[in-house]
Amino acid sequence: MCGIVGYIGSAPHAYDVLLDDLHRLEYRGYDSAGIALVRDNGALVRVRAVGKVAALEEKLTKRAQVYAKLGIAHTRWATHGAPSVRNAHPHTAGAITLVHNGIIENFAQLREEVQKEGRMLRSDTDTEVIAHLIDMAYAQLHDLADAVRAVLPRLRGAYALLVIAKGDPKTLVAVRVASPLVMGVAADALFFASDAVAIVAHTHRVIYPLDGEIVVAKRTEGRVSYTITTEKGALRKHTPRVLKWDHTQAQKEGYAHFMLKEIMEQPHAVTDAMRGRLDSDNATARLGGLAPVEERLRTIKRIIIVSCGTSYHAGLIGAQLLQEYSGIVAEAVYASEFRYSNYLLDKETAVLAISQSGETADTLAAVREAKNKGVLTLGIVNAVGSSIAREVDAGVYNHAGPEISVASTKAFTSQLIVLVLIVLLLGRQRTMSVAMGKRIIRHLCAIPRLIETVCQHHKEIRAIARRYKRYDNFLYVGRLHNFPIALEGALKIKEIAYVHAEGYPFGEMKHGPIALVEPSLPTVVIAPRDSVYEKNLSGIQEIRARRGKVIAITTHDAVDIVKHAHDAIIVPKTLPVLMPLITVIPLQLLAYEVGVAHGVDVDKPRNLAKSVTVE
Ligand code: AGP
Repeated sequence: MCGIVGYIGSAPHAYDVLLDDLHRLEYRGYDSAGIALVRDNGALVRVRAVGKVAALEEKLTKRAQVYAKLGIAHTRWATHGAPSVRNAHPHTAGAITLVHNGIIENFAQLREEVQKEGRMLRSDTDTEVIAHLIDMAYAQLHDLADAVRAVLPRLRGAYALLVIAKGDPKTLVAVRVASPLVMGVAADALFFASDAVAIVAHTHRVIYPLDGEIVVAKRTEGRVSYTITTEKGALRKHTPRVLKWDHTQAQKEGYAHFMLKEIMEQPHAVTDAMRGRLDSDNATARLGGLAPVEERLRTIKRIIIVSCGTSYHAGLIGAQLLQEYSGIVAEAVYASEFRYSNYLLDKETAVLAISQSGETADTLAAVREAKNKGVLTLGIVNAVGSSIAREVDAGVYNHAGPEISVASTKAFTSQLIVLVLIVLLLGRQRTMSVAMGKRIIRHLCAIPRLIETVCQHHKEIRAIARRYKRYDNFLYVGRLHNFPIALEGALKIKEIAYVHAEGYPFGEMKHGPIALVEPSLPTVVIAPRDSVYEKNLSGIQEIRARRGKVIAITTHDAVDIVKHAHDAIIVPKTLPVLMPLITVIPLQLLAYEVGVAHGVDVDKPRNLAKSVTVE
C-alpha cells in the first residue's frame, strides 16, 4: 500500500505541495520516496531516495529548487522489488513518468513483451513496465490520455496511476482500478492522492473517481480544468463532495480509530493477499516468494510454525490446516518457547515464521535458531524488507499494507489467507485432489464479500458490547479451527479493553473452567453449524444450566444455538477451513467497542508496542 500524490495548478509550487503531501501519506509506507516535476519549458526533473520522505528532502535541498506547476510524487511500501533507488517511484520510460499504488498481477508476461520490444528495464517493479507500455503507445498516439487509455485493458490487478509526460507541462492523467484515488478540486489547482489526508490540507471539495475512470487534468492560461471518462472515452460527470474531515480524521478516512479502519479494510486486505496468487486451472496457489524452494518443499514432512500473540493464533490454524489438507505433520509453537527449547529438527522439517512486523525479537531468534540447525526457514510477513523477511530462506508477503493500530486485525486475516494458499500449494503437491483445490479457491474468492457482510453487523455488535461492558471477566470457547479464534478473541478484549478473558477449547470447560460459570461471567461461544454442532449445543446448555450468559457467534442454520444463547451474532457460512476468517470479525469489533466504551485509546493500549523488538 503506497502513497501517491499529484498537483497541477496555476501557481508554481508543485515542489512544496507534493513534499507536504508525501509527509501526510507517510503512514501508508515509507521504504523509499520520489518526486517528478515538469517545468514550464517541458523539462522533467526526477529525484528519488531510499528511506523516509526526509531522505528525499535532503537530496532535494542539494539541488536548486524547481519551480513547477505540474508534478507527481510517491512514498513506497514495496511489493515487487526490494527498497532501493532504482525501484523507487516515479518510474520513467522514454517521455513517460508515473507513480503507481497497487499490484499488477500479469506483470511478468507484460515485462517479457516490453523486453521483446527491445526496452531495457532498470528496476524490478511492475510499475516500470506500465511506464514502458504507455510510452510505446504515446509514441504512436501523441496524446497522453489516449496512450493511457490504450494500455489499461492490458493491465490485470490493482492500480492507481498518476501519469505525466516530458515536454507537456500542462497535462496530468489519473486513473484507478481497485486502488484508492481521490482528487481535490480547488479554484486554481487540482490535487491527487491515495487518500484524503493529503487533500484536506488544500481543499475539502473532493471527487472519488470510480474504478476504470480516467481523469484528464489540463492547465490552460490561468486556469485548470478536468474531464472524467470511462476507458472507452464516455464522459462521466461527478459533482465534488465536501469532506468535513480534519487532517487526523482524514488519515483514518473518517473512522474514529485506525483499529476500526483496519477492521473495515479487511475485505480489501484479504483480496490483496490473494491477488495474482490463485491458479484456478491447476487448483493450486502461485507464490512467487516460495518458487526458489518449491521443489525442496516436496520433501518436507513436518512444519513447525513459530510466532507470537495474534500471529501465533494464525499459526495454530495453519498447523491444523496443514495436517488436514496437506498431509504434513505440523505444530504451532510460541516463538519464545521454541527459541529456548531443543526441538528435534531434521532435513525433512521446515520452520515457518509468521510475523506482521517482521521484527518481533522472539520470532526472529526462533528463525536464527532454526537456521543454525540447517533447517529450511519460511516466512509469512507483512512488513516488506523487515529482518525476518530478509533472514528466512523464502517467504510470502501478506500485502495487507501498514497496520497502524497496535491490535493486529487485517494482518491476522491476511495471514490466514496466505496460510490457506500455502496449504493449497503443499496439498496439491501431495494428496489434495483437483476438486478440493478448486473448491477451496471458489470459496476463497467469496471471502471478501462475506467479511463485508459481517462488518455490516457493526451496530448490533456495538449494542452487545454496551450490554456487556461492565463485566470484568469473559470466557471464550470454540472447537477445532474456532479454538484458536477463541484465543484470539480473548487476546483482543484483553489488550484493547483491559478486560480479563481466557480462551479455551470448548471441550475443556468440564475439566475446570465451568467452575467459574455464574451470571457475572459471560462466555463467548464460537459455534457455527459444523461437525461439532451438537457438542457445542450441549456445552451451551450446560452453561445456561448454571445461569451463565452466552454470546454465540454462529450461523443462520444453528437454530438451537441461537435459541439458547442470550445474544447471537449470525455470520455467513463458508467451508469449515475458512470459517476462522469470518468468526474472528465479530470478536475484533466486540473488543473494539468494549474498549471504546471503557474510554481506552484503542490504537495505543497501555504497556503494548506495535512491534515487540525486545525480549
Ligand atoms: C496483536 O494484536 C498484538 N499486538 C501482538 O500479540 C502481536 O500479534 C505480536 O506481538 C506478534 O507481532 P508480529 O506479528 O509483528 O510478530
